[in-house]
Amino acid sequence: MAVRFVLNGEVREVADAAPSTMLLAWLREEAGLTGTKEGCAEGDCGACTVAVGEPTEDGTALRWRAVNACILFLGSVDGKAVLTVEGLEGPDGALHPVQRALVDHHGSQCGFCTPGFVMTLFTHWWREGATDRATLDDVLAGNLCRCTGYRPILDAARAMGGVEGGDHLRAQEPEILARLDVWAGEGDRAPAPGFVAPRSLDALATHLEAYPDALVVAGATDAGLWVTKDLARYDRVVSVAEVPELRAIEIGDDQVEIGAAATYSDLLPVAERCWPSFASMLKRLGSELIRNSATLGGNLGSASPIGDCLPVLLALDAVLVLRKGAARREVAAEDFFLDYKKTLLEPGEFVERVRLPRLDEAVKLHVEKVSKRFDQDISAVLAAVCLRVEDRRISQPRVAMGGMAAIPKRAPAAEAALAGAPLDDTAFLAAAAALERDYQPLTDMRASAAYRLDAAGACLRKAGFAFQNRPVRLPDTPVEVGS
Ligand SMILES: Cc1cc2nc3c(=O)[nH]c(=O)nc-3n(C[C@H](O)[C@H](O)[C@H](O)COP(=O)(O)OP(=O)(O)OC[C@H]3O[C@@H](n4cnc5c(N)ncnc54)[C@H](O)[C@@H]3O)c2cc1C
Ligand code: FES
Ligand code: FES
Repeated sequence: MAVRFVLNGEVREVADAAPSTMLLAWLREEAGLTGTKEGCAEGDCGACTVAVGEPTEDGTALRWRAVNACILFLGSVDGKAVLTVEGLEGPDGALHPVQRALVDHHGSQCGFCTPGFVMTLFTHWWREGATDRATLDDVLAGNLCRCTGYRPILDAARAMGGVEGGDHLRAQEPEILARLDVWAGEGDRAPAPGFVAPRSLDALATHLEAYPDALVVAGATDAGLWVTKDLARYDRVVSVAEVPELRAIEIGDDQVEIGAAATYSDLLPVAERCWPSFASMLKRLGSELIRNSATLGGNLGSASPIGDCLPVLLALDAVLVLRKGAARREVAAEDFFLDYKKTLLEPGEFVERVRLPRLDEAVKLHVEKVSKRFDQDISAVLAAVCLRVEDRRISQPRVAMGGMAAIPKRAPAAEAALAGAPLDDTAFLAAAAALERDYQPLTDMRASAAYRLDAAGACLRKAGFAFQNRPVRLPDTPVEVGS
């Protein structure tokens, strides 16, 4: 029993790793690869960034994604490729173009954050991503630098595409792909004692039914923190993330079926096409590092009152397909949440798919996230409003909010104020005023109860502006300075 992966071009087999071992801990403490740093150990700083490689859909190339190694279970990289900062330099010791650009543009001072920036930028370099300011802000939102300042790092990011080199990684690609292909063909296996990552839906369902007490993980961007922060240890971990059907997203004429283990990074382009306002919010959910691992199924499984996607699912009247053993049942997202972090999932049951409607011309969705920082911050309030407008009159309004109650919850009084009203500011002012009948929010470290109610009302009024095609908001992209 061993976790098998390609690390910096070499096959590694880690026998008998404990199921709760995190990739970063193993890299630093067992493999001696201390270039990858530990800062926060909770996915917030990016010091631990590594690239995880998997074949593209057609199998002809490697797709590298930057992830937080601190909260990634070691067993989750079984059958994949991992690249750390030590694997970037050429065989002759030449710096990789990304490293060269950072040196040339003075993008590092103390250097603690630098390996993380290098690895995030490497994945962007590899995919030949755009280097405009808005794109780079998105790409780098999960990497924090305390001393250099971001301008030199952005300069390096803009310049890295023009630096020659990095060819040894392209040369390794066919061999790595062939190795991953062989492993993929071997089917289900338990890489570590107590860590199972089934490759088929039936095997997953059978396993979870047999071991209902196992910790289920997808991207582990919540569950990983239970290990690194709460110091929990698990005897049995089951990853849902390797089942192809759970990672798939199918776009139909009327609806979209999203596998519970599809990452937000994979969901984002679909949301841009089908629900642009949802996509704008997704870009602010965590960082790209988080979105490369995190899933909708994980958001549902955590059932946090501040899970950002949950109010959107309520507003869109999503249907969840749940599976236990051979049996499936469908439930409305609204019925899924029972109490604070409590869902109607039975032991051994898991979320298989989420079904969302595509919207016709007359149906509008608006999503607003209120948080202290623009990127990478947990919401104080998340508002999602969906309604139909015909002859400038509102019908079928669905208003749902996060951060306002123990569970993500609809707002019946606000909905009643909107139903049948003309599409104008008065309707949304009335709906905002009705919110105090819908919610009695708590005061906590993120916001006071009064602030939450006020902000929720402002979200409704902004939704009203947006539906009337007169959005009132600051530009998403900061004003360009010094370029
Ligand atoms: C730095 C950082 C920033 C974050 N920012 C945000 C944010 O802005 N907004 C936000 O909403 N969240 C945020 N999160 C929380 C987290 O990223 C999300 O909740 C995410 O959707 C969790 O998905 P996951 O796949 O990582 O879940 P995991 O951590 O793998 O699992 C979470 C829970 O869901 C269960 N679960 C997972 N998949 C299934 C399934 N298919 N069926 C049943 N149960 C399942 C697990 O058992 C576990 O209980 C952040 C987290 C971090 C570390
Ligand atoms: S150590 Fe900070 S994100 Fe991993
Ligand atoms: S160079 Fe010191 S934290 Fe970035």
